[in-house]
Amino acid sequence: MEEFGGEPGMSKHVRAVVLAAGKGTRMNSVRPKVLHELCGRPMLWFVLRALHEAGVDDVTVVTNSDVAPHVEAIARSAGHAASRAVLQEPQLGTGHAVQIALANLEPREGTLLVLNGDMPLIEVELVRSAMARAGNALALVTARMPLPSSFGRIVRRGEHVQKIVEARDADEDELLIDEMNAGLYAYDESKLRSAIAELRNENSQGEYYLTDTIGNFRERSETIVPVVAGNYRSVLGVNDRVELAAASALLRARICEHYMREGVTLVDPQSTYLEPGLDIAADVTILPNTAIGRGSSIGAHSEIGPNTRLQNARVGEHVTICDSVVVDSAIGDLAIVGPFAHVRGGAEIGTNVRVGNFVEIKASTLAPGVKASHLAYVGDTTVGDRTNIGAGTITANFNGKRKNRTTIGKDVSVGSNTTFVAPVTIGDGALTGAGAVVIRDVAAGERVVGNPAKSLRKETS
Ligand code: UD1
Ligand code: MG
Repeated sequence: MEEFGGEPGMSKHVRAVVLAAGKGTRMNSVRPKVLHELCGRPMLWFVLRALHEAGVDDVTVVTNSDVAPHVEAIARSAGHAASRAVLQEPQLGTGHAVQIALANLEPREGTLLVLNGDMPLIEVELVRSAMARAGNALALVTARMPLPSSFGRIVRRGEHVQKIVEARDADEDELLIDEMNAGLYAYDESKLRSAIAELRNENSQGEYYLTDTIGNFRERSETIVPVVAGNYRSVLGVNDRVELAAASALLRARICEHYMREGVTLVDPQSTYLEPGLDIAADVTILPNTAIGRGSSIGAHSEIGPNTRLQNARVGEHVTICDSVVVDSAIGDLAIVGPFAHVRGGAEIGTNVRVGNFVEIKASTLAPGVKASHLAYVGDTTVGDRTNIGAGTITANFNGKRKNRTTIGKDVSVGSNTTFVAPVTIGDGALTGAGAVVIRDVAAGERVVGNPAKSLRKETS
């Protein structure tokens, strides 16, 4: 277990509760708010990721029945080995959510972090600074933020935090306060337990507000330590789709900056869509209007884009991919893909291959030096070294019932508009004439033409 801060009274083993059960009414969506995505990950992922990076792996997620089935997968992909979800039904407010979490946790001395699940811009440094200031009743993360704002206002007397007033419940003077409640709290667990038992729901929403624990602490002369975030953008909560788009843009800029600092050239970061955790080598260039998603890697000196989408694509070095889509596939070194290629379904494109100008490759292996340069469909096919696939070639892999494979050897010359009616095998060095419809196997070195394709040698003899 990692140790933080080293302040007196601070537990080595910090636990966290993440609030993710809210209905998300303002999203106007059948999808629960914390499952809406930014940069390819659900909102909740970023909160769990920041906790994991801060070394907090004992996390309880308060969920509703729509969120619960997804928590384990999200937590695992955020790096947590185990996850714990507790149901809050019905959802009676953030204070009620914490009550439910505490009822499911064995009481323990020390710090309990509480985080809203709708703050995807949260950064690990801020979690760490809240933990470092823990030890009193509450270290409360706040942020100075431009007005108007719908965040809860921090009401201070002098330096001391008196209470938090929700914007809905605030009077005119309180609405002018520009210090907001971030939604990240480092509580002393036993003091939280006694305060939470006394919450009431006398407010505009009839909800139990977690923020009312602050007033309770003041009455008991407990110490509340405000921790002012350096940048309010890292605590922006997402409550509707306008805020989701704004948070997405900020997150995207942050992710782009990360890759640029690692040596990746982004010609236009504004139109470049990257996800966290990609493996992009230094000296890769990414041209405008390009989206690179989950599981993708790109080797050095490759140039991707413009107008390109990669998803789970493993791209080698010195590769060029433009105006194309590559999904669940691998592209070998020095290959040129596009413009207008669609490579998908576990395709393996070898070194020095040329694929493009309206070519689709599905679940096929193209050996080094293969060329499919114009208007072709290659599906469920193996193609040998240096074979040239002529313009308009189709592998007819589906006979109405099942998919069949086409096997094409090395150094084959496939004439324009050839149709291979699978299953069919073409030997090394064979040739098909323009418009050939190949319905049976072709031997090595054999030349076939016509519909159905027949051996040239036999026809002319
Ligand atoms: C909350 C804070 C506000 C703060 C803001 C920061 C309260 C009362 N107010 O307001 O002071 O400035 O966050 O973003 O806490 N949730 C549950 N169960 C519920 C209700 C909510 O789990 O019954 C979860 C939501 O899924 C969400 C989080 O708690 O992730 C915050 O709830 P939300 O309704 O978004 O609160 P805000 O109005 O944003
Ligand atoms: Mg919110």
